[in-house]
Amino acid sequence: KMDTFIDELIGKMTLKEKIGQLDLQTSFRDLTGPSINEDYEQQIKDGHVGAVFNAYEPDFNRNLQKMAVEETRLGIPMLFGYDVIHGHKTIFPQSLGEVASWDLEVAEVGARVAAREAAADGIMWTFAPMADIARDPRWGRVSESAGEDVYLNTLMSVARVHGFQGDDLGATDTVLATAKHFVGYGLAQGGRDYHSTDVSLQELWTTQLPPFKAMVDAGVATFMTAFNDLNGIPATGSKELLTDILRDQWGFEGFVVTDYTAINELVPHGFARDDKHAAEIAFNAGADMDMVGRVYLDYMEELLDEGKVSIEQIDHSVRLILEMKWRLGLFEDPYMYFDEQRAEQEILSAENLELARDAARKSAVLLKNDNAALPLKLDELSSIALIGPLADNKRDMIGNWAAAGDRETVPVSVKSGLEARLGDKVAINYATGATYDFMVDADFAESRADHMVGYNQQSEAELAAMIAEAVAAAEKSDVIVLAIGEDQRMSGEASSRVELTLPGNQRELMIELKKLGKPMIGVLFSGRPNDLQWEQANLDAILHAWYPGTSGGHAIADLLVGDYNPSGKLPMTFPRSVGQIPLYYNMKNTGRPYNADNENQRQEHYKSRYDDSPNSPLYAFGHGLSYTNFEYSEITLSSDTLTMDGELTVSVDITNSGDFAGEEVVQLYTRQLVASTTRPVQELKGFEKVHFEKGETKTISFTLTAEDLAFYRAGLNWGSEAGDFHVFVGTASDQVQKAEFTLVD
Ligand code: IFM
Repeated sequence: KMDTFIDELIGKMTLKEKIGQLDLQTSFRDLTGPSINEDYEQQIKDGHVGAVFNAYEPDFNRNLQKMAVEETRLGIPMLFGYDVIHGHKTIFPQSLGEVASWDLEVAEVGARVAAREAAADGIMWTFAPMADIARDPRWGRVSESAGEDVYLNTLMSVARVHGFQGDDLGATDTVLATAKHFVGYGLAQGGRDYHSTDVSLQELWTTQLPPFKAMVDAGVATFMTAFNDLNGIPATGSKELLTDILRDQWGFEGFVVTDYTAINELVPHGFARDDKHAAEIAFNAGADMDMVGRVYLDYMEELLDEGKVSIEQIDHSVRLILEMKWRLGLFEDPYMYFDEQRAEQEILSAENLELARDAARKSAVLLKNDNAALPLKLDELSSIALIGPLADNKRDMIGNWAAAGDRETVPVSVKSGLEARLGDKVAINYATGATYDFMVDADFAESRADHMVGYNQQSEAELAAMIAEAVAAAEKSDVIVLAIGEDQRMSGEASSRVELTLPGNQRELMIELKKLGKPMIGVLFSGRPNDLQWEQANLDAILHAWYPGTSGGHAIADLLVGDYNPSGKLPMTFPRSVGQIPLYYNMKNTGRPYNADNENQRQEHYKSRYDDSPNSPLYAFGHGLSYTNFEYSEITLSSDTLTMDGELTVSVDITNSGDFAGEEVVQLYTRQLVASTTRPVQELKGFEKVHFEKGETKTISFTLTAEDLAFYRAGLNWGSEAGDFHVFVGTASDQVQKAEFTLVD
């Protein structure tokens, strides 16, 4: 039925109408890139727009849809897209934070709630999940990613696709998902956004492509091209990526949209002479829909006349887009996503806010907790000093790419969350204490006057007065809780940093507070791994809250007082300093591996190491403490050999020997010692998040097969090789039990 309908429709369409379907315009309600086209409404009426984004709310979108349905010749409904990344109006934790839950259900539920709210608010297509492997914390977009590891990233990305798209695209509460950015965007050199990337094919296939392939297999509806140049070919103009791999090898059946003006950018990349040439390259590469750049609108007809593109290709791309409109049910009811009543019931519902609170609790990572500084012992406390630029702050709680999220009234700040939990039992002495704005020289700040991020405007005297006020608040309190971190605008698109220390004068504030000798607990808000060497050395406890979302303050209160026991684990390595980047857990061993445990360090001189820093990270991938203790037994293997068609069971007994019930993320890693290409020192192959009552012991088992141990060998030849392996099970990548087995032919 769908095929016949679309055949007939395409048969009736003029060339201009077809080209219109290949065009995605932004409304001027919100912008997520440079503005180049203000007449989008007229273009809709001219039948030149297949889809619109940055538009939401039933009324607003209904009006635009009416223009397409009632004022154009064929009345083809438009798709409405939006960056619904970690929530629509009920905002869940920043994507990287949500991944720190290591809980696939949290990721799926987060996407499901986002889809339900967005679909009730006029949106039927989201530009998520982002599956770029993120290994450089200078890059602001690590906050949107699913972390540095391919296994974890893949499972999380697939869970999100299921959450957004549900079981039935035709249901009114689902949205089309987008696998983005295809591909290699996370490898931007120097961590500078939009920068070029250069990666070996083996590494591309091993770490970058698998999450995207898995999303194709999961039925993701659309793909977005990446901005970057990948090994000399900009991704948006790469036929190898968009056609040979995506369509021919993987069998992707949805449509490909470009990133924002990414086709036009083929010109400054030096890959196209002009916009027309860029349109020719991108379309022939396999980019079906042009986001904002209007190059298909302007040049496709000429390109067809000149024989540079064919009508069959145009019809094919139009068909892919119309198919998605059909599958959503838009030809039956173009207004099905614009329902004020549904929006009213669904958006910011009590149930959604509670789910967001639960996700925020599960995402927080306890980085340090000396002398059981946390949870706060409420029966021993009469007052808490709550200090920091993120303490009484709603705006930053929801993080970046929370485009439709309210920042003024709805989010729960840490202060409100603690007040609600503590009532009048414990006094809260609040002070801002410091700025988290960048402290740069006046000329630089001036040159960036319109830039989104804050540059400090306060005089030295004003900053000193803020610190003095905070010290006074701390002096009359039993414990100091610091709400510190980054302005949320310091991560996200176009938000790269060269320093990873906490910005502003937060360090100066903490140095003064430290002099009081009181317990200091840091609650950290940030979208990236920061350089926390000072905080690790000087604070008693550090709880990483990421940007926890709309219900963030409640979740932080739950964690601080122990109503919820932290269970998050880091999805990215936290380096000690910028100089160690790139630093990720599954690096290669090198020919001169450095041994920090060698008592004779002279023997370690000509080894792969730094003179002025350990090699090890400050916090390893998978690190995350709990208020309780989990004791691991040695590993038991079902055999010391695994055959190519067999299974190996890897088991440990884990006991909760501490004073709290809690969840542990049990992590399984492997290493092949010798192979035809060098192998990483560890690779995540499994994990399980398990609840333990106080005193409880459980046996946790994983099954390994030869396929789990396969890798890309020379010539991109996928397969497993016989040989010796180490298998590791533990609470973090650097805290594991080890056993050995052999994979035999
Ligand atoms: O979806 C985003 C993309 O991730 C970055 N550029 C803008 C797009 C649309 O807002």
